[in-house]
Amino acid sequence: MSTSPKILVTSAAGKTGIPVTLQLLERGFDVRAFVRRRDARADRLEAAGAELFVGNQYALSDMRRAMQGIDRAYQCAPTAPNGLHFNAIFSVAAHESGVQHVVTLGQWLSATDHPSMFTRETYISDRLARLAPGMTVTSVDPGWFADNYLMVLDMAAHLGVFTMPLGDGDVKKNAPPSNEDIARVAVAALADPEAHAGKRYRPTGPELLSPNDIAAAMGRVLGRKVRYLNISEKMMTKALRAMPPSNFSNAAVSQLAIYADEYRRGSFAINAPTSDVLEVGGQAPEPFEDILRRTVAARPELRSSPARRLRAILGFARILLTPAMDLQEVQRLRDFIRLEQPRFSQQSDEWRATHVAPSAV
Ligand SMILES: NC(=O)c1ccc[n+]([C@@H]2O[C@H](COP(=O)([O-])OP(=O)(O)OC[C@H]3O[C@@H](n4cnc5c(N)ncnc54)[C@H](OP(=O)(O)O)[C@@H]3O)[C@@H](O)[C@H]2O)c1
Repeated sequence: MSTSPKILVTSAAGKTGIPVTLQLLERGFDVRAFVRRRDARADRLEAAGAELFVGNQYALSDMRRAMQGIDRAYQCAPTAPNGLHFNAIFSVAAHESGVQHVVTLGQWLSATDHPSMFTRETYISDRLARLAPGMTVTSVDPGWFADNYLMVLDMAAHLGVFTMPLGDGDVKKNAPPSNEDIARVAVAALADPEAHAGKRYRPTGPELLSPNDIAAAMGRVLGRKVRYLNISEKMMTKALRAMPPSNFSNAAVSQLAIYADEYRRGSFAINAPTSDVLEVGGQAPEPFEDILRRTVAARPELRSSPARRLRAILGFARILLTPAMDLQEVQRLRDFIRLEQPRFSQQSDEWRATHVAPSAV
């Protein structure tokens, strides 16, 4: 084996792709970063020492070229439709080019008959990756990222509300990991395949938080009172549609609604927090409030001003005026494969056997 392995990072300009790339470079690895286009994020990765590969990671011809000379790879399907297509292409190209070790980003919820087609696809993708002879795999399966809460920070900063469909405000339902801590676990596994081959990790933050805890942390960091508002699924779809262009297609929104349902059912609280960030990533996981402080410091537009408050009020009015989405119709129009008897993670015996501590069954 080469003494200096070359590592491919897919989705390198994404939430986990950026810190995975930067942390690998900090540790002295030779990194090829797969990006869709040259932009400020790609420039940052290149300035840090990454070799950029600009292309379409859903195209096998591009993925084959990106895999040339690669020894290890970070497999990260975007939060978008066609995840299984991406993962199949990744697995074919990795197998053909003789990649030795893959770290694949999956989901804590991954289960065979899950109502979310995206989630079923991550389950199948994980199995596919493990079929290639001669290639070892480490799975990193986080739950709900801390980053998801940051999407609604503007509203918290300017209107004093934290709005998400997370159910009862007092129940502690998630120990949210930072993108950087998820990356730390992935990077440890990419750096030392022998120690991590075949393993499955679930990075979490240091403690379980309730929606009210999250609102209170936002309030402390923003220097104002922030109240949690448990919105309906319908309102969530209106908010996601009214947001400025983001990565989320209608199809992705239909799946996010299912993840919010899992959140309310308490699936992200099971067996959380874990010690994987500390034991695998090598340092204590970041508290949510520290993630918030970092984010707020980097976003001057979150500081209050009458003009920003007015913009936030107009944004809220836009949400109210935006038509809600019919999530069943979106899935039908996209020809999503539907199961006769879908099962949320906790309804699956297989999932419970592998994810729930025996004492809690
Ligand atoms: N969010 C959660 O709470 C959560 C929880 C558990 C698991 N996950 C898993 O996390 C994964 C997503 O990871 P992430 O959040 O780090 O990724 P991400 O932020 O969605 O990043 C995806 C990246 O891929 C790029 N991309 C999209 N289409 C491309 C194309 N055709 N060619 C080249 N690049 C392309 C995007 O580019 P642009 O930025 O230019 O669009 C983006 O930079 C998903 O598989 C999801 O299942 C997420």
